[in-house]
Amino acid sequence: MRRRVRSVPGGFAGKTAVVTGGGSGIGAALTRALAAAGADVTCTDLDLAAAERVADGTSHLPGSVRAQQLDVTDGTSVGDVVDDVVATTGHLDLMFNNAGIALGGNTELLALEQWNAIIDVNIRGVVHGVAAAYPHMIRQRSGHIVNTASMAGLTAAGLLTSYVMTKHAVVGLSLALRSEAAAHGVGVLALCPAAVETPLLDADGVGGFSGRTYYLSGQGVRKAYDADRFAGDALAAVESGQPLLVVPIQARLAWRFARVAPGLMQRAAAGFVSRQRQEQRL
Ligand SMILES: NC(=O)c1ccc[n+]([C@@H]2O[C@H](COP(=O)([O-])OP(=O)(O)OC[C@H]3O[C@@H](n4cnc5c(N)ncnc54)[C@H](O)[C@@H]3O)[C@@H](O)[C@H]2O)c1
Repeated sequence: MRRRVRSVPGGFAGKTAVVTGGGSGIGAALTRALAAAGADVTCTDLDLAAAERVADGTSHLPGSVRAQQLDVTDGTSVGDVVDDVVATTGHLDLMFNNAGIALGGNTELLALEQWNAIIDVNIRGVVHGVAAAYPHMIRQRSGHIVNTASMAGLTAAGLLTSYVMTKHAVVGLSLALRSEAAAHGVGVLALCPAAVETPLLDADGVGGFSGRTYYLSGQGVRKAYDADRFAGDALAAVESGQPLLVVPIQARLAWRFARVAPGLMQRAAAGFVSRQRQEQRL
């Protein structure tokens, strides 16, 4: 059941939010953080049962969470979910385009279907969310679009080439849109974390590739970032109007290194790929 809470300027209470990929990992943590802050959340996922489990776990929180099945590769369905929130509540305040998949391994092993699948979810999925939410936000002259990109959208190391491509697209989309959207009172934020502790780390790729080994050794961190802590950082970044959220500090340093010394960064990436190929016998 949906509960209406009076909107608190600058806060999340009473705000309406749609989260894609909300059944697991970062999307589930974003849903919990929003509900804890009093927002009314439509938690969507390809996996309805997963979204329902997340919603069930938030019943003690001040906000409300409604679970809904949604495949972000289906643009019409994404539009229907967003239109339904606007029709029911009169507004859409926050659109989290978060659903994503990863695919690692030597690029020559990728089938065309795998390239298309990652483009469909990670790029088209975000485009569908933007196309659905942005016109409503322009009309209401407020709102925030939050796209889950990745540290892989700011730096580029191989064995994750298709993923890196999609996340660079999400960063580009977010920053360009942000420069247009400000005039309409709409904010845009791209989330660019390094490894976050979610099931995605164990989504192995082609040819024996291990995501967990790759992500953790590549970023100079021993432990992946906590998803709930990351969701809290993300809401703080929405409130402060940041363009990009890059965590942890090692990721910010790597990003700076890539901008200051792109040639050296490329050499470092090649060395990393070579070590990963040896370590993982790829
Ligand atoms: N975990 C990390 O280390 C990390 C780091 C940087 C960025 N990210 C990004 O964070 C986002 C969330 O990933 P996560 O780590 O929470 O992974 P996760 O696997 O825990 O969650 C992803 C969710 O997306 C859903 N999903 C997959 N395809 C979908 C589709 N077509 N339509 C709707 N939902 C779909 C899955 O069912 C799952 O519930 C992704 O965009 C990912 O690329 C993750």
